[in-house]
Amino acid sequence: MKKILDLIAEQMRAAFEGCGYAADYGKVTLSNRPDLCEYQCNGAMAAAKAYHKKPIDIANDVVAALKGQTPRGEAADNAALPMFESVEAVMPGFINLKLSGEYLAAYLDGMRGEDKLGAEETGGGKTIIVDYGGANVAKPLHVGHLRTAIIGECIKRMGNYLGYHMIGDVHLGDWGLQMGLIIEELRDRKPELPYFDEAYAGEYPQEAPFTISELEQIYPAASARSKEDEAFKARAQEATFKLQNGYAPFTAIWRHIMNVSLADLKKNYANLNVTFDLWKGESDAQPYIPGLIEDLQKRGLAYESEGALVVDIALPDDPKELPPCIIRKSDGAALYATSDLGTIIERERDYAPEEYIYITDKRQELHFIQVFRVAKKAGYVKPETKMTHMMCGTMNGRDGKPFKTRAGGVMRLENLIREIGEAVYDRIMENRTMDEEEARRASQIIGLAALKYGDLSNQVSKDYVFDIDRFTSFEGNTGPYILYTIVRIKSILARYEQEQAENGENMSAAKIGAAGIRPAGSAEEKSLMLKLSAYNDVVEAAFAEKAPHKLCQFIYELSDAFGSFYNTTMILKEEDQEKKAGYIRLICLVKDVLESCIHLLGFDAPERM
Ligand code: ARG
Repeated sequence: MKKILDLIAEQMRAAFEGCGYAADYGKVTLSNRPDLCEYQCNGAMAAAKAYHKKPIDIANDVVAALKGQTPRGEAADNAALPMFESVEAVMPGFINLKLSGEYLAAYLDGMRGEDKLGAEETGGGKTIIVDYGGANVAKPLHVGHLRTAIIGECIKRMGNYLGYHMIGDVHLGDWGLQMGLIIEELRDRKPELPYFDEAYAGEYPQEAPFTISELEQIYPAASARSKEDEAFKARAQEATFKLQNGYAPFTAIWRHIMNVSLADLKKNYANLNVTFDLWKGESDAQPYIPGLIEDLQKRGLAYESEGALVVDIALPDDPKELPPCIIRKSDGAALYATSDLGTIIERERDYAPEEYIYITDKRQELHFIQVFRVAKKAGYVKPETKMTHMMCGTMNGRDGKPFKTRAGGVMRLENLIREIGEAVYDRIMENRTMDEEEARRASQIIGLAALKYGDLSNQVSKDYVFDIDRFTSFEGNTGPYILYTIVRIKSILARYEQEQAENGENMSAAKIGAAGIRPAGSAEEKSLMLKLSAYNDVVEAAFAEKAPHKLCQFIYELSDAFGSFYNTTMILKEEDQEKKAGYIRLICLVKDVLESCIHLLGFDAPERM
């Protein structure tokens, strides 16, 4: 469906043109004075300069033309409906617009009949790779990985919804020093294992030599040890090197680490409502690296510098000089950047995406500038391919420092999710009558919404404070508040249906859908309807600008608009049955829009709360 702003602009453009002015002046925006009008056009002011006339004269011309005009274009089937309730030229030359109630109601009815509530599939199947999550295998998932997972999932869902072919890849850190640390720690704990017997020639066991809880213990222990025990660290580096060069016994251990750890990671991501199409990692990039290095060297792009192999990436108009990208260290080890380049080569081969979106902490800014520039410079990626690094701000504690556990350690994601679930549970139990089991289930769902909304409602690049009390509040700009709105509507709908059934009316959902939404009968109803009509515009903008917070802001305002409507309207007590059915259709659409948005944000609503 066309966006309502575009439909209005079409009318304005025609009016400007009809009066002999260029159509381009017919731009329309939401009003910044909602007390005066709903939409406004400031084109007369700009046109005044070009046509050497007073802005108000132009505005008056255009208003007169608008009054004599019937809507064109997609609105043709509403041709009988005038688009505006009022059009007004005001000093010094603004054109203030109010939509007619009938037109707006017809537009919302159009949304109800559309597959995606009127959102247009503009993606045309274009492939976009979203690289997010980025968990490191064998290390516990911690809050540092939270934002990328939550934001990436939302970006992927929005893109798919709008008709892009989004491929989400978790891009695991599965090839680093942590592997060598685990191998050597394991050697010391279980020297009898066949992986450490150089004379062993048999098959290696299918069964992993550790459970996930052991693994979770082994890594931190090994990591701590490497910080004080130089010899141990050297052994771990050696083991990592051997693994990376294909030493069979270590490859076998690595597979065990991967299997055990992946099962756990998948469970953790599933608890976050985050799913990936690809579970690839740094290890998958390794086969491409020798060829990549050779290619860069042969073409003179990479050169030796202090023993390392580097590619220059600085450009003349960089505000400050950027260091070259190191492709290979002096000890021969490949690096993070090298493996990202290898991954790009594989992705080009397998998917040739039109865009890459990487989502990480903002501290990786330089890394991605370097990788993108080398990829373009070497022609591994077409010049027109978009490469975006979405840099996440930090989630801070109330002290303004990066979020930690109460004891000051790194917070594990599952503990964080549990804590927030418990906080919600306490709130539910405080003031509701819900049985224990339902309250537990609901608090999981609401807790996740609190966490995700608390994150997504902030601009991606900004730091924010994780405030469990605020995030779990049922009032204000929070996830639970949005869910509460949905639950409230669901309960009105259920009562309505029950009432209808009792009267033998069988007002099923299908029948509710048959007749239309009625023109607004109050200012509150009109505001709610105007908000609803912006849905397709908001979804498109939130995706185009990679700004999930815009979607949050929209559903917050929509929930508020619903709240005002609800507080001023007797919905179920309405005597006029046709009017009442109209309210029901309207709030049904509010619910559909809210549910669609929370789905895009990556969380669900409970049945009750
Ligand atoms: N594993 C990395 C980390 O924990 C994030 C990976 C991001 N993706 C990428 N293609 N480099 O920092």
